[in-house]
Amino acid sequence: MDRIKIVGGNRLEGSIPISGAKNAALPLLIASLLTADRLTLKNVPNLADVNLLARILRNHGVDLAVDGKRPGPKQHIGETFHLTARDIVDTTAPYELVSRMRASFWVLGPLLARMHKTRVSLPGGCAIGTRPVDLHLDGLKALGANIEIENGYVVATAPGGLVGNRVVFPKVSVGATHNVLLASALAKGETIIENAAREPEIGDVAECLVKMGVEIEGIGSSTLKIQGRDRLEGAVHAVLPDRIETGTFAMAVAATGGDVTLTDTRPDLLQNALDILAKTGTEISRTHNGLRVVRNSASMNPVSVETQPFPGFPTDLQAQFMALMTRAAGTSVIRETIFENRFMHVQELARLGAEIHQHGDTATITGVEHLHGAQVMATDLRASVSLVIAGLMAEGETIINRVYHLDRGFEQLEEKLTRCGANIERLSGD
Ligand code: EPZ
Repeated sequence: MDRIKIVGGNRLEGSIPISGAKNAALPLLIASLLTADRLTLKNVPNLADVNLLARILRNHGVDLAVDGKRPGPKQHIGETFHLTARDIVDTTAPYELVSRMRASFWVLGPLLARMHKTRVSLPGGCAIGTRPVDLHLDGLKALGANIEIENGYVVATAPGGLVGNRVVFPKVSVGATHNVLLASALAKGETIIENAAREPEIGDVAECLVKMGVEIEGIGSSTLKIQGRDRLEGAVHAVLPDRIETGTFAMAVAATGGDVTLTDTRPDLLQNALDILAKTGTEISRTHNGLRVVRNSASMNPVSVETQPFPGFPTDLQAQFMALMTRAAGTSVIRETIFENRFMHVQELARLGAEIHQHGDTATITGVEHLHGAQVMATDLRASVSLVIAGLMAEGETIINRVYHLDRGFEQLEEKLTRCGANIERLSGD
């Protein structure tokens, strides 16, 4: 198994290109199931999760051609995927594939909408919490689906097709919003989704559906009004920039000190996180196609945060921000309100010398003067990258085990950091 070795202490200087967003690319790829025509997606990041989803889609009969695999320094410019689901040859999404990536459960809505029946494995729990799917199922039931759970599978049917309806989510869910939004595109008549998640990745999927011929009002708001169509057309769409990757690198620069320009991204996608970061004493300014992050001062202000659905501080940046706060000049409090068990990084950060006390959904971090390199273990994607940030700050050598988590969501992480002066390398496993 590969490991990552970091020798901490180097300032980061230079520029880092930001890739297309994983969490937009995944539902956009799934949107290809809605049409027999070709959907072309540009700026798709080359990630393990994307490649796994591509396998799942091929299993359903999606014909997939990829171009834009560029060797050399421009590799980061995402790939272009051409997806054509002329015939859906298999409406079952099997346990072996769905259990490896939760977002693959989102094929449920589109397959049901197009084929009127589907069987999708329940995704199961994961490291960050129990993550139920009740909201997905209730949303689809509101569109007329009959749903049974049989042998670990969701068996969904809608003999006459799905029918638009009002779906009121009792709780904000990114995945349930994606599932119902995608399904409603092929439902008869109007669907209104209330209390929809407002994450920019949902807006990106909605924009793509509009290009495919669906009428959608309220994009970016918590009420989406969708006029379903009998059939959707093909489209060409570019995946929006990855706000979590953007925030992660901004926090890495704040952590090490330095001056880095993040290109091909949009500050408005993570304004709340950037405002929080600015309070730590990090200078952030807009550039023509991204942002510049500068930190020169040795001392960092402690700042407390609470994770919230968009436009609040994202749970996907919580671990990275905690890594940063381990060296703040004082005490900060981080409250995780989205997932009940997303503090797996706490004990790994402690191995590097961090002082963190966790109680329920709250972690209290007392900044220390120095972190010291150690062996640590990656537990989930964002926790893993928080260990990278901590390793970049720590004195001496940090070895991160189980880095396959990083490959799920960060494209060319070591290359991007190395180009800015970090001492980081991958040690390939046996
Ligand atoms: C998406 O997960 C993201 N995944 C996650 O990113 C992200 O952390 C999360 O949204 C929150 O922003 C992708 O986009 C692929 P939710 P999702 O449904 O859709 C509860 C990463 O690292 N809930 O918004 O699974 C749930 O338990 C990943 O890139 C129900 O109770 O998250 C949680 O407490 C990790 N019933 C809350 O809602 C349901 O039916 C929010 O979950 C569904 C969810």
